[in-house]
Amino acid sequence: MNQIIDGIDYGPLAQLLGKWVGDKGLDNAPDAKAEPDLNAFTDELTFTVAGRSENAEQQELTVIKYHHLVRKLENGLIFHDQIGHWLYEQATGLIMHSLTIPRGVCVLAGGSIKQHGSETIFEVKAKLGSETFGILQSPFMLEKAKTTAFKMRLVVDGNSLSYDETTSLFIYGKAFEHNDKSRLQRVTYDMG
Ligand code: HEM
Repeated sequence: MNQIIDGIDYGPLAQLLGKWVGDKGLDNAPDAKAEPDLNAFTDELTFTVAGRSENAEQQELTVIKYHHLVRKLENGLIFHDQIGHWLYEQATGLIMHSLTIPRGVCVLAGGSIKQHGSETIFEVKAKLGSETFGILQSPFMLEKAKTTAFKMRLVVDGNSLSYDETTSLFIYGKAFEHNDKSRLQRVTYDMG
């Protein structure tokens, strides 16, 4: 697909644009004893262009934004809703992913992009306490359901996209690796 939209070269981010749907999601979230609670889900991911950002007249970023809507497979009810941006610096190859979880948690993760055959692989991570790629959370979450790290691997290959993300938590007095993965197909490039 064309990487240049309205005169802006979106580089590898262009491959994500459009609407994607999937019914292969699997969520591993903590239950009240911090034991794994597995939920199958369907998800919709919509990526749209968000233009260019220039920082301190030196750093040029191209940006796309997304909305991720996740429903339980068994009843169709929304149980996760996430918004954020992916940002790419062509000069250095830096990729950043900023995201908001509507529990009072925000993440800025950073990393790089690799090409493996026809697959483009986006890998980012963040750690609690980092002043750069880190995590901010509400006082309640910090005390009761702390996010200590986040990592995500997203692979796009034509009209197929998969992701695997792990949110490291400290909840109910224990560490828990909250994992979500899914595979989606692009249904439209329409970004309206
Ligand atoms: C497809 C993506 C995701 C789904 C479907 C999902 C779903 C869930 C579910 C079902 C719970 C348990 C809620 C409960 O027991 O009431 C949970 C807990 C949690 N999730 Fe996620 N999650 C996703 C991604 C994320 C991400 C990316 C983050 C943060 C970076 C995050 C942060 C949390 C936190 C902090 C909790 C602990 C809250 C609690 O259980 O009381 N989640 N998530």
